[in-house]
Amino acid sequence: MNERDLLPQSASVPPSDYIIIGGTGDLSMRKIFPAFLLRYAAGQVTDDFRFYVVGRQNIDRETFKAQLKPHCKDAFESIDNAKEVFEKFTALIDIVCVDISQTNSMAILAEMLLPNAQVERPMIFYLSIAPSLFSAACQRLHEAGLVLPQSRLVVEKPLGHDYASAQAINDELLAVFNENQIYRIDHYLGKETVQNLMALRFANVIFEALWNNRYIDNVQITVAETVGAGNRAAYYNQYGAIRDMLQNHLLQLVCLVAMEPPVRFNADQVRNEKLRVLQALRPVAEGDVICGQYQDYAHEVGEPTTTETFVALKMNIDNWRWAGVPFYLRTGKKLAMRASEIVITFKNRPHDIFSENGITNSDQEIPNRLIIRVQPHEGLRLLLTSKEPGPGGMRLFPSELNLSFGETFSERLPEAYERLLMDIARGNQTLFMRLDEVLAAWVFIDPLVAMVVKAMPMLYRSGTMGPEDKMLAKDGRTWIDPKDEPDAAA
Ligand code: BG6
Repeated sequence: MNERDLLPQSASVPPSDYIIIGGTGDLSMRKIFPAFLLRYAAGQVTDDFRFYVVGRQNIDRETFKAQLKPHCKDAFESIDNAKEVFEKFTALIDIVCVDISQTNSMAILAEMLLPNAQVERPMIFYLSIAPSLFSAACQRLHEAGLVLPQSRLVVEKPLGHDYASAQAINDELLAVFNENQIYRIDHYLGKETVQNLMALRFANVIFEALWNNRYIDNVQITVAETVGAGNRAAYYNQYGAIRDMLQNHLLQLVCLVAMEPPVRFNADQVRNEKLRVLQALRPVAEGDVICGQYQDYAHEVGEPTTTETFVALKMNIDNWRWAGVPFYLRTGKKLAMRASEIVITFKNRPHDIFSENGITNSDQEIPNRLIIRVQPHEGLRLLLTSKEPGPGGMRLFPSELNLSFGETFSERLPEAYERLLMDIARGNQTLFMRLDEVLAAWVFIDPLVAMVVKAMPMLYRSGTMGPEDKMLAKDGRTWIDPKDEPDAAA
C-alpha cells in the first residue's frame, strides 16, 4: 500500500442546515466551527450548506467572524489559502438573535429555514447550551414547527449529574424528538484511535483468540491531562473527575475494549454490545477507588472543596470473557503529561524453557503487552520478547513492534468533532450514545459517587501522576505510565 492509498477519504454528506443554539459560546467557538471549517476546506461541506448561530447576543456576521478567527488558528495551519477559505466558509453563516425563554421566539428562525425545508436536507439543531435550557429550547423548536422528520437534535454532556437527573433531561428531549433523532455526543468516540480499536479487534483475527481471561492478565486505561480546571472551575467543581471523565469517556473506552463482536457494524448492534458491558460492571468495592485533588485546586475554586480532580479505580466485568481480569482506570488533571493509553497486559508464558539453563535475563523480562495510544502520537505498540543477537547463548530482551498512525498517514488525523458532525448529517448514530447506555453508566457511577463523597481526596502535586496509591501493589502490579514522548507534555 502506498501513501496515496492512505489519504483520508471523505464520505459524501448531504447538504444540511446546522443550527447551533448557543452558537457564540465556548464549545461552538473552540470545537464546532473550527471542525466545520476543516470539513469545508476538505470539500465535504459544500456551498450548499448553511449554518445558523442562534443566541441572545445581537451581533453581526463580521463580529462573529472576528470572535471565531483566533479559535481557528490551528485549523488554518492545515488549510491552503486559509484566508480565502475562511471568508467563503463564513459567508454560509447567519446570526439569529433569539431569547429561548420567550414563547414563539424561534419564529424568526422558522422563517429562514422552512422555505428550503426538504425531507432529504437534514436540519440539525445542536444544543450548545446548559442542560437547564434544553427543555425550553425543545419547546421553542416544537412551537415553531421545526420538529420535522428530517430534524435531528445534538446534545453534549453533562447529561445529568446522576441517574435521576439524566433521565429527567432525556424525558424533556424525548417529549419532542424521537430517540433516533437524538445524537448524544461523547467526543472520545470521534477520536480516530478510539474507532480504530474496533478495527483492531474486529477486522483482524489474531487478537480475538487471545482477547479473554485465559490470556489477558489485566487492562489499564490512563487518561492523563496536564491542564487544570482553569476557567471551567465553576462547572468542574460540581462534577469532578468521576462524572466529568469516568462516567463517559473512560467507560466508553472500557466498552470498546471489552464488548463482544457485534453482528454488524451498525448503530444498534454496536450499541447493544456496549450496553451489555455496562450492565456487567460489578459495583466498585470500597478500597478499590482512590480520589485525589491537585494542590492549588481549592485556591482556583476560591473555597475549600472536596471535589476530586483525579480518580483511580479497579473494575471487574462479570461475564465469561472477563471474569477475574481487573480493569484499572485512572484519569486526572494537572498530571505529569497529556497522554491517553490503553494497556493490555498478557499473562506470563505457562512454562519457561529458557530460565532452566540460566539464559534468561530475567530482570529485563516483561510480559507481552499491547499498548494502544489514543492521544497524542496515536498508534499501537506490541511488546514482545526477542533474542539478543550474537553467538554464545540465548539472551532475551524486550523488543517492540511500533505502528505510528501519524507516520503512516500522510495527512493529519481529523479532529473528533469533524467526524461526529458529519455523521449526524449522514444519519449515522454508531458513534453516539443511546439513552440506555447513558443510564447504565449512571447505574454504575451513582454508588461510586456516594462512596467517595464521604472522604476528602488525597492531595497531589501538579506534574505528578496523582496521589501515591497501593491499589495495584495489593494485587502485585504497578501502573504502566504512558511513555512521555516528545511534546507529549504539551
Ligand atoms: C471533556 C471534559 O469532556 O474532555 C474536560 O469535560 C476534558 O474536562 C476533556 O479536559 C478532554 O478531552 P480531550 O479531547 O482533550 O482529551
